[in-house]
Amino acid sequence: MPAARQLLTCLRLSAHCLRPLRPTFAEIDLDALIYNFSLLQNYVGKQVEILPVIKADAYGHGALPIARELIRAGARRAAVATLEEGVELREAGVQIPIVLLGGLLPRQAPQALTYRLTPFIYDLRTAEALSQAWDREQKEPESHRIGARGRISVHLKVDTGMGRLGIPYTHVLEFLEALSAYPGIEVEGLATHLATADEPDPAFAKTQINRFRKVCDQIERTGYRIPFYHVASSAGIFSSQEAHFNMVRPGIALYGIPPSLNLTSVPPLKPVMRIKTEILFLKSVAPGTSIGYGRSFMTARESLIATLPVGYYDGYSWSLSNRGRVLVRGEKCPVVGRVCMDLCMVDVSQVPEACVGDEVVLLGNQGTQQITAIDLAAWMGTIPYEVVCSVGRRVPRIYLSNGDVICVRGQDQVYRWRDT
Ligand SMILES: Cc1ncc(COP(=O)(O)O)c(C=O)c1O
Repeated sequence: MPAARQLLTCLRLSAHCLRPLRPTFAEIDLDALIYNFSLLQNYVGKQVEILPVIKADAYGHGALPIARELIRAGARRAAVATLEEGVELREAGVQIPIVLLGGLLPRQAPQALTYRLTPFIYDLRTAEALSQAWDREQKEPESHRIGARGRISVHLKVDTGMGRLGIPYTHVLEFLEALSAYPGIEVEGLATHLATADEPDPAFAKTQINRFRKVCDQIERTGYRIPFYHVASSAGIFSSQEAHFNMVRPGIALYGIPPSLNLTSVPPLKPVMRIKTEILFLKSVAPGTSIGYGRSFMTARESLIATLPVGYYDGYSWSLSNRGRVLVRGEKCPVVGRVCMDLCMVDVSQVPEACVGDEVVLLGNQGTQQITAIDLAAWMGTIPYEVVCSVGRRVPRIYLSNGDVICVRGQDQVYRWRDT
C-alpha cells in the first residue's frame, strides 16, 4: 500500500488515531453548537429563518464542519464574508445557498455566478457585471446541455446608518428599478446591519429599524415581492424583537459567546470552543529569578514555573504577557513574563503537585473554574470575537460530537474525518 494511503487508512481507523500530535489544540463541541442553534431558533420562532454566519472560518471554529453540522440541524442557508470562503465551501460539497456578506467587486462577478453564491449587492456596477456574466453563461452551448442554470440570487444591502456597505436607504426603490434591466438577477433578500445593537441605548438601532421598515413598506406598495428581510445579528436578536423580520444572521451567539454584556436578555449559551495545552517543562526557581524576554517578570518568592507550548503565533496574544490566567488542576494560575511566539510561562506555585504533561486550559473550564472568551478579551484589551477568530492555523481543531472525536483539522488545514 502506498505510504500516503496507509496514513489515511490509519487516520480513519479510530477516534484515538485522529488525535493530533501537538499538545496544544482547540476542541470544538458540536453538541454545544447545535444547542445554541436550536436555542436561537426557539428564541426567534419557527417563522423566522436563521442565516448562520460562518465567515472568517466560522469565527475560527472551522467553516466546513460547522456548516455540515448546521445543515444536519436544519440550516437551509449560510453566510460567509468573501468569495473565496464561499468557493471553498462549494468545492468541499456544500450545496445550500451561501450568502456573501462582505461585498463583491465587479471583476469577481463571474466566479460568484459560476459557484452560484448569493452576494450582497449595493452597487449597480457589480449588478451589471453579474448580469453580463449570466448572459455569457446562457450563450454557452454547455449551459444548454446541462439545462441552463437558474438566475443568480442576490440580497440588496441597505445602509440605514452603519456607514459601511449599502445602498443609501433613501435610494432603494431607484436601485430596484434599475435592476429590472438585468433579467439574470433575482432579488431574494433585503438586508441592513445595525451599528449599535449591542449598546445600552437602543435609540439609534430603533432609528435604523424604522428606516428599514419604511423601505420594506415602500417596496411592498409597489407590488414587488422580496422573500427575505433581515437586520439582526446576534446583538439585534437579543435586543429587540422588532429587528427579527423573517430572517436573522447570528454569528457569535452560535459559538456560545454573548454578543454584549450590555444586553440583559441573552439566554444561557454554551461555549463551543475550548483551548487546551499541556505543561511542557517545569522548574523551581529562587526568589529574584527573571522570566522571559525583557525580564519583565521577577519572582518574589521561591516559585514553580511551568512552560507551555503555546504562543502568539497560535493566537495566545502577546498582550496576555503578565496579564493572562490559565487553569492547572482546577486552579487559575497567572501568565508570567512575555508571551513568546511558540511558548509562554505560568506561575504554578499554588499547585505544587503539577507535573509535566498536565492538562492546561487556556479557554474553557476545568474543575469548578472557567476562563471565558470574555475574560481573555478583557485581559487582552479586545473583544471576544477577536479571541476566537485569532486562534492560529497551527492549532489543530478537534471536533467532538456526543463526546467522540469525529473529525480533526491538522496544521496542514486538511480535515480528517472519522470513518463512521
Ligand atoms: C453583515 C453581518 N451580519 C451578521 C454578522 C454576525 O454578527 P454577530 O457575530 O455579532 O452575530 C456580521 C458580523 O460581523 C455581519 O457583518
